[in-house]
Amino acid sequence: MSRLSSRSSNSTFSQKPLMPVTTLAVDIGGTGIKAILLDAEGNPLTERSRVRTPRPATPQAVVAAVVKLAGEQGMFDRVSVGFPGVVRQGVVHTAPNLDGSWQGMELAQVLEKLLHKPVRVANDADVQGLGVIQGRGVELVITLGTGVGSALFVDGRLVPNLELAHHPFHGDKTYEEELGAAALHKVGKKKWNHRLSRAVAVLSRVFNYDVLYIGGGNAKKVALDLGPNVKLVSNMAGLLGGIACWQSPDEQGRPD
Ligand code: BGC
Repeated sequence: MSRLSSRSSNSTFSQKPLMPVTTLAVDIGGTGIKAILLDAEGNPLTERSRVRTPRPATPQAVVAAVVKLAGEQGMFDRVSVGFPGVVRQGVVHTAPNLDGSWQGMELAQVLEKLLHKPVRVANDADVQGLGVIQGRGVELVITLGTGVGSALFVDGRLVPNLELAHHPFHGDKTYEEELGAAALHKVGKKKWNHRLSRAVAVLSRVFNYDVLYIGGGNAKKVALDLGPNVKLVSNMAGLLGGIACWQSPDEQGRPD
C-alpha cells in the first residue's frame, strides 16, 4: 500500500476514497519541463503545461520552474517527477543534460518542502516506461530527446539504473552522442534515422526483448519501418507514467 494512504483519510464524513486522488506529474527534460494533473486511474485532469528548461539548468532554476508549473496546474495530493538522470531515494546522482551542480541534490525532499505534498522522483525513461509497458516478458524502452533514456522491464519489474545513453555504440561514440537531439540537429533526420536503425538492430541482438518502445520528443522524427515488436509511443507517457510511481516499490522496482 502506498505510504500516502493515511494522509488523505482525515475527513470522517467524506464519501471520497481513502487514497489521494490527484497526482501532479512533472517531466523534467533537457529542453522542456512539463506538468499535468492525473486522476487516481492516471487519466489527465488538466491540459499539459510546459516551460522551456531554464539555462543554466541549475537546481534552483529548475525547482523554481517546477513550483511555478505546479501552481498553475491547481490542487493535487501528491507529486511524481521524471528526472533526466540517475536518481536514488529522491537524491540526484547524475544529470548529464542539466547544470553540473545537481549531484547530491535532494530533489524529492526539496520539492516536498516547497509543494507541501509527498513527492517521488524517478528517472524520466523509467517513468515513460511505466506509462507504456504491458508487464509481460522483456520490455525495453528508449527515449529520444535531448538525451537518450533507457529502461528495461522484466515481467513488469524494472531493472534499475540502466543508462544505455553513455555506452559506446559506434566507435567511441555513445548512443547519446549518436542519437541525442544535438546529433539529430547536426546530421539531419535521414542520417539520424539510419543510425537509429543500426541501434535498434544492436539492441535487439543484445536484449532479445519481446517489445521495444521508442518514446521521447524526437520519436516523432522516426521514419523507419521498425518491425512488429517495436512500438513508437507518445511523449505524453512521460507524464502519464507518473501515476505508477505511486504504486508500491515492491511491485515496480524503482519508483524512487
Ligand atoms: C541520462 C538518462 C536520461 C536520458 C534522457 C541521459 O543523458 O543519462 O538518465 O534518462 O538522458 O533524459
